[in-house]
Amino acid sequence: MTRPLKIAPSILSADFGRLADEIKAIADAGADYVHVDVMDGHFVPNLTIGPLVIEAVRRSTTLPLDVHLMIEDADRWVAEYAKAGADLIGVHAEACPHLHRTIGQIASLGKKPCVVLNPHTPLEAIRWVLADVAMVLVMSVNPGFGGQKFIPSALEKVRELRRIADERGLDLDIEIDGGVKLDNIAEVYRAGANVVVSGSGIFGTKSYAETIRAMRERCR
Ligand code: DX5
Ligand code: ZN
Repeated sequence: MTRPLKIAPSILSADFGRLADEIKAIADAGADYVHVDVMDGHFVPNLTIGPLVIEAVRRSTTLPLDVHLMIEDADRWVAEYAKAGADLIGVHAEACPHLHRTIGQIASLGKKPCVVLNPHTPLEAIRWVLADVAMVLVMSVNPGFGGQKFIPSALEKVRELRRIADERGLDLDIEIDGGVKLDNIAEVYRAGANVVVSGSGIFGTKSYAETIRAMRERCR
């Protein structure tokens, strides 16, 4: 059975000076989640926002917050992000030496655990935690910046992951993040990704509603 498409605009490409308006605009345009990119300047070569801004985002919408942590020492921070209002919390397999524990911690905070894989990281890295997460995020760019080019091998990784999840009978959401726009969304959805992040592909367009509507149309 194909899973319904969920669209998660990444606010990294939003106008941060008018963040609450931008979030309202994507909610009105039919977004399913708000994707929030947290970068610490260590795990990735960029620095963005922390719990304080997430709290503000939380106050501005009722949409679920999909918080993508690109940080070192996630164990020390997940409780802060849970408290700030995250609904899904994604941690990088590459940044978590005790990944199983970190995922358990997120679940015990009552949040949905998600594990994230960089483009070079094999699926084998998450084999023994796959049954413990609600979602796997397959990166289709090297994390750190919006507006990068889609790495095509991510498609094969998504296909393989969907096959493994089906084989094991897991109710798994597969999210893809990086370089997804109107022109390639159908391809990633058909490969088996049902949660699609798009930053510049939505915020870089004139009408968010028209773009999201067209994205859904392409995946029909
Ligand atoms: C990259 C971030 C992405 C980014 C996506 O490190 O994780 O969420 O904002 O931006 P686009 O869709 O422009 O590639
Ligand atoms: Zn992201």
